[in-house]
Amino acid sequence: MVSTLNKELPKVKIDIKPRPLQRLILDLVDRVITLIAHRRFGKTTVALMKILKNAKPKGRFFYIAPTYRQAKVVAWQMLLDMVPPERIYRKNEVDLYLELTNRCVIELKGGDNPDSLRGVGLDGAVIDEYALMNPSIWTEIIRPALTDKRGWAMFIGTPKGKNHLFDQYLNTKESARFIFKASETDIIPKEELALAKAEMSTDEYNQEFECDFLYFSGQIYKEFKHDIHVIKKPFKVDDSWYRGAVIDYGQVNPTAVAWYAVDFDGRVFFFDEYYVAGQTVKTHAEAILAKKYNLKTVPLLDPSAFAKNRASNDRMYSVADEFEDNGIPCLPAQNDVKAGINRVKEYLDQKKLFVFGNCENLIREFESYRWKDKKRVDQNAPDEPLKVNDHLMDCVRYCILSRPYQPRFPKYAENPMEKRRKEFMRVGRGSKDWYT
Ligand SMILES: Nc1ncnc2c1ncn2[C@@H]1O[C@H](COP(=O)(O)OP(=O)(O)O)[C@@H](O)[C@H]1O
Ligand SMILES: [Mg+2]
Repeated sequence: MVSTLNKELPKVKIDIKPRPLQRLILDLVDRVITLIAHRRFGKTTVALMKILKNAKPKGRFFYIAPTYRQAKVVAWQMLLDMVPPERIYRKNEVDLYLELTNRCVIELKGGDNPDSLRGVGLDGAVIDEYALMNPSIWTEIIRPALTDKRGWAMFIGTPKGKNHLFDQYLNTKESARFIFKASETDIIPKEELALAKAEMSTDEYNQEFECDFLYFSGQIYKEFKHDIHVIKKPFKVDDSWYRGAVIDYGQVNPTAVAWYAVDFDGRVFFFDEYYVAGQTVKTHAEAILAKKYNLKTVPLLDPSAFAKNRASNDRMYSVADEFEDNGIPCLPAQNDVKAGINRVKEYLDQKKLFVFGNCENLIREFESYRWKDKKRVDQNAPDEPLKVNDHLMDCVRYCILSRPYQPRFPKYAENPMEKRRKEFMRVGRGSKDWYT
């Protein structure tokens, strides 16, 4: 069947007819659209249709896949199939460059080569599988490129945990964001879904076909469960508990601080956080001190902040020196990534680590912290966390690896366990609930 996507451009004919849900997306006029949909929904297809629909004379459009190879394999042929040969002015298979007879240029790009994305004003950009790209591609390159021509952007993808694609979804105007699940769209036949379900783990299936943002393959802290580890109704931390703080300094990235308390059973509660980008150490230090938490120890600071790599009046100094000059002396944290992650996992498993509900960034990072995707050829390479949105995760690691001090129960009060033991001795074994 042949359909015409754009009444003004009757010559661009596409041999596939948009499905109703694709039609819905094509008809939107919003400047930012976020489309989350299951695998094989037709996201890439509809995105290319959208570009062709908008392919005005002298227009300029980018389609960006996570890698150049993916752009070539997934989208190049698809795009050529959609454009009748007589509409093509010239094309370049290597640069994935297509110029239409109306001098509109469509280029396919890979997010793995950010430099190839710089320097042109755009009328529109599609960011395909944004969850697999570094978010700075959008914030630092594509968004600025759209300002001159008031261009549009379309984010498409399947979820990979609560990462920047999820944030993008939340930040998009409600009328221009969509989640389409395989169980609702009827695009993939039921038998095929059943087959996929049998082959995949439940988490994987829910992510790929039901667009579930909670779980994802590659998540580092799978042990982190919202209903177990998040304290929805924060309480006042007892003064007799041990209290500390951990700082991860970022000059361009946010500076993150996590405050924690340890109870008499050695359970660690992260009860407050600080997460601010682009400020001086002095401003950070003032904000941290203003919290007035009565800490029992000096904060731990990311060890790289102790490098004396700044100069002033011929004196070399470090970020740590600067924190100290501003009233916060710190100790260097231990930065063994693997050991730290394993210890944090143990703490989560043993229900010894909790996060107060007010620590939104910390919770988000716990849910989205993930391993770097390994290239197919490199399956034996050691696992490495993806260095995106991991600042508070570093803080948690530093804290747990420092073996947070478990306070002794104060002498003046009776230990509740002892009290319960006495009660048990008195009431006898018949009482089932002595330990509750
Ligand atoms: N409207 C349509 N009509 C027929 N086939 C379609 C349509 N939209 C997509 N397809 C086909 O469905 C398959 C998956 O599409 P694709 O855009 O790659 O999905 P996604 O990017 O969501 O995984 C492709 O083979 C594509 O040609
Ligand atoms: Mg696709």
